[in-house]
Amino acid sequence: MSYNLLKGKRGIIFGALDENSIAWKTAEKVHEQGGEFVLTNAPVAMRMGAIKELAEKTGAEIIPADATKVEDLENLVEKAQEILGGKLDFVLHSIGMSVNVRKGKHYTDQNYDWTAKGWDVSAVSFHKTMRVLYEKDAMNEWGSIVALTYMAAQRVFPDYNDMADNKAYLESIARSFGYFFGTDKKVRVNTISQSPTPTTAGQGVKGFDGFIKYADEMSPLGNASADDCADYTLTLFSDLTKKVTLQNLFHDGGFSNMGVSAKVMERFIE
Ligand SMILES: NC(=O)c1ccc[n+]([C@@H]2O[C@H](COP(=O)([O-])OP(=O)(O)OC[C@H]3O[C@@H](n4cnc5c(N)ncnc54)[C@H](O)[C@@H]3O)[C@@H](O)[C@H]2O)c1
Repeated sequence: MSYNLLKGKRGIIFGALDENSIAWKTAEKVHEQGGEFVLTNAPVAMRMGAIKELAEKTGAEIIPADATKVEDLENLVEKAQEILGGKLDFVLHSIGMSVNVRKGKHYTDQNYDWTAKGWDVSAVSFHKTMRVLYEKDAMNEWGSIVALTYMAAQRVFPDYNDMADNKAYLESIARSFGYFFGTDKKVRVNTISQSPTPTTAGQGVKGFDGFIKYADEMSPLGNASADDCADYTLTLFSDLTKKVTLQNLFHDGGFSNMGVSAKVMERFIE
């Protein structure tokens, strides 16, 4: 349903790979709410082609950018403003990748070149993105920047591997850069800590099927879907959340405050 919540707002959406991506669902819903945006992804993801379908559907242009390369981000931010006709009101960072996870390297036996690569893609890219937006003064006052994270930043999920450390770093960047963006530009910066979600990145985690079922049975409201996450993100892009900043916001059906649920307990009672 459209409330025109984002009418007149412009932004950039990173990370729509295919129709399961959280960024894909967000782009569809931002469009429904009247927002205009540019889509971006790494050039390698672009070759897979699905993003073009989303661009057609939402009337968006695509600008390729490797989020670890500052020059790509500079080009993206400049072109996005040209295409959209002014400064930006919202940015979604929906990017994550661990080479150690991809290659099945155990957490206790990291390949540190891979660790560094995953850290750059999953965490430092958020700093680089905000740095470019900040230096180019590309955000309108009361704009909103959101990145997606996972609760393994606070609690142990052994198979989440080095992504846990990357997410902890990402959340810290949101607070640290959010301070400067808030005081200097009146822009808010938050992370959404989302339930396990069946996407390409999510399903790359070892034991994902067990992981997602467990979370679902632990959460009073059940897992939040990619669609639900997109809805929550809209509220953070809208003018209804202007004073929310420096927060890590759990969007997980209540999972993060649970000890145990009756459903999970049942499995241990004979
Ligand atoms: N799926 C889950 O269970 C889950 C849970 C919590 C948080 N998240 C987070 O949500 C975000 C989106 O992931 P998703 O689940 O939609 O999966 P996804 O695989 O659809 O999206 C990840 C995106 O990151 C992009 N990417 C990778 N390297 C890049 C680079 N160098 N430059 C630019 N883009 C790059 C990929 O091309 C892809 O589009 C990630 O930050 C992820 O960690 C996911």
